[in-house]
Amino acid sequence: MAVIPVALAGRSYDVTIEAGALEALAEHVGPFLPTRTDAAVPFVADTNTHRLYRTAVETALADRTVEWFIVEPGEGAKSWTVLEQLTDWLLELGITRADHVFALGGGVVGDLTGFACAILKRGCGFVQIPTSLLAQVDSSVGGKTAINTRAGKNLIGVFHQPAAVLIDPFVLKTLPPREMRAGYAEVLKYGVLGDAAFFEWLEENGSGVLARDPHAIEHAIATSIRAKAAIVAEDERELSGRRALLNLGHTFGHALEAETGFSDTLLHGEAVALGMVLAARYSARRGDLSDTDARRIAQAVERSGLPSEIAALGMDCDGARLVDHMRHDKKMEGETLPFVLLNDIGEAHLARDVTLANVAAFLDGQLQAH
Ligand code: GLY
Repeated sequence: MAVIPVALAGRSYDVTIEAGALEALAEHVGPFLPTRTDAAVPFVADTNTHRLYRTAVETALADRTVEWFIVEPGEGAKSWTVLEQLTDWLLELGITRADHVFALGGGVVGDLTGFACAILKRGCGFVQIPTSLLAQVDSSVGGKTAINTRAGKNLIGVFHQPAAVLIDPFVLKTLPPREMRAGYAEVLKYGVLGDAAFFEWLEENGSGVLARDPHAIEHAIATSIRAKAAIVAEDERELSGRRALLNLGHTFGHALEAETGFSDTLLHGEAVALGMVLAARYSARRGDLSDTDARRIAQAVERSGLPSEIAALGMDCDGARLVDHMRHDKKMEGETLPFVLLNDIGEAHLARDVTLANVAAFLDGQLQAH
């Protein structure tokens, strides 16, 4: 078991990583259950996590009444409509500011639940129980919550930290391999952006992580969370530029996701993996990173079965079109967009001198390259 504190004045919490934690749920979440034992315990899940874990949850909390709010899997649940339904449901249950709502699912369930809890009666508590690798190593920690709108993904949201995060690596057993790889992209990201030794460990042990070897997976999750906790503690609201480093690969990736309609053609983690390769190659083109290191990053991505070549996606577009998607990025500062680039493996920086025209020309080259 690993317990990793996220140190934030007045809003500190622990991330607990324990194989089998879901079965021992009562032990872990005891302090977050309603004090009145006849009060409902609200769980938000999607149809998959409800089907898979309902029995485990209700067995572990057998002396409580668990109530479920169930959404369809996928980004569609991060909508005004579902948010309204969820907040109405929580109000009907009589949830107070002292209560906690439990988010059992991937990033969609966590983001939606977190946002609902941020605005319910001006803020009630919530506990994240992430069930995808991507949510376990990234989205469940750090308090970013949001829904999507017509104008784009995650454009309406707030920072609202969970009261606790409980990670059970056993639940990854049922995660489809493609989702596992997509989550692994975020694991790789921590090595590339700030921890060369972890990157080297992943070069050696990445296949074990993807094969869900218990020791490898626990080490990968714990190392990722420690890195994220340290960054969030330093720059909770992404103001100093430190937390922005977690967006490595996301600006390129977001443009690719937008171009493919945020669909199953390219999962978020796959877009981040390819975006990381593009960020590395662009850094090398600027002379910031060696070509050898850019190649090592591309190889690590490719070896894990993630996309490493934009040309292989068969997209019918040019660099200017991809850059147009970037202009809608919420990180745009006037006419410029800060890019997370690399000086070295394990050493990322925020570059504010990148011109979008130059990025478009670079992408034209990448689209034709292979
Ligand atoms: N997923 C990036 C962050 O939490 O800041």
